[in-house]
Amino acid sequence: MSNINRIAVLSSGGDAPGMNAAIRAVVRTAIYHNVKVFGVNRGYEGLITGDVKQLLKSDVANIIHKGGTILKTARSEKFRTPEGRKEAFEFLSAFEIDGLVVIGGDGTYTGAKFLTEEYDIPVVGIPGTIDNDIFGTDYTIGFDTAINTAVEAVDKIRDTADSHSRVFFIEVMGRHSGYIALYTGIGSGSSYIFLPEEENSLDEFCELLKKANRRNKLFNLVIVAEGNSNGGAQELSEKVKDRLGDVDIKNTVIGHLQRGGSPTASDRILASKMGYYAVNALIGNKSNVAIGIVNSQVAYTPFIDAITNKKDPENHMIEMAEILSL
Ligand code: F6P
Repeated sequence: MSNINRIAVLSSGGDAPGMNAAIRAVVRTAIYHNVKVFGVNRGYEGLITGDVKQLLKSDVANIIHKGGTILKTARSEKFRTPEGRKEAFEFLSAFEIDGLVVIGGDGTYTGAKFLTEEYDIPVVGIPGTIDNDIFGTDYTIGFDTAINTAVEAVDKIRDTADSHSRVFFIEVMGRHSGYIALYTGIGSGSSYIFLPEEENSLDEFCELLKKANRRNKLFNLVIVAEGNSNGGAQELSEKVKDRLGDVDIKNTVIGHLQRGGSPTASDRILASKMGYYAVNALIGNKSNVAIGIVNSQVAYTPFIDAITNKKDPENHMIEMAEILSL
């Protein structure tokens, strides 16, 4: 027997394409089970200020293809404090909410873990971040769209890099995670990838560029994760210019373009599954867990494990990218 009659859903942290598809799935699955759903605006901020409204089936019509999040998002400083969480819980109680679905990354999960442990309210998480760095799921919502956007951008840069025989440093997102850089690099056939997880030697890289040049490879696309230890695309290109002198080098930062746009079919389907499983988990009296899809099966990872375990790009993919490049 389920004790769940009224749930709330929020998105928090950086937005990711596909969050709307997840919200839609949460709302429709809950209503199917006769559970009322309330949408919280601006993540945990909205829980603290009581910025909540009931969502009906029709409120989530025509959103599956939209980027961003209809519930808006925020990174709430106040919710990190016990006082902030107390205010949020008081609001949830006043609204008789008996379960919460949070969509976001590890910061969102950390807040959820504190809330559910301090106040014993069931919370289930859905991994929504373009970074794909959440332990307990093969892919996060938004990653596929972000890498498709990045690959499309790199394809365009390839045309001009080729025409001018230039080296391009192209910076993609991922402060702490190289997933976007690695998958963009492989998908766009880049020459080299700088990841935050690796210490790349600039001397070695310059040698590779010289070698490529000797065998008449006149243009090179280099993908740089924003969090890599040698700096972003601009800093890196300056360092390489200093070392190599007479090389035509340009740099581009793709930036927040990667966060927007209509989600890919993969992201929509992943988000729909996760929203559906999240509500079923709450109804099945699960709590303090994040939903994931691992090897095509639903997985439930305790928030503590999802937060404390780091998910890094697979070594075999890094090796493969090296073999297929320069
Ligand atoms: O976590 C998602 C992400 O897009 C990262 O890749 C990036 O480093 C960060 O958010 C940027 O955050 P903001 O939009 O707050 O500057």
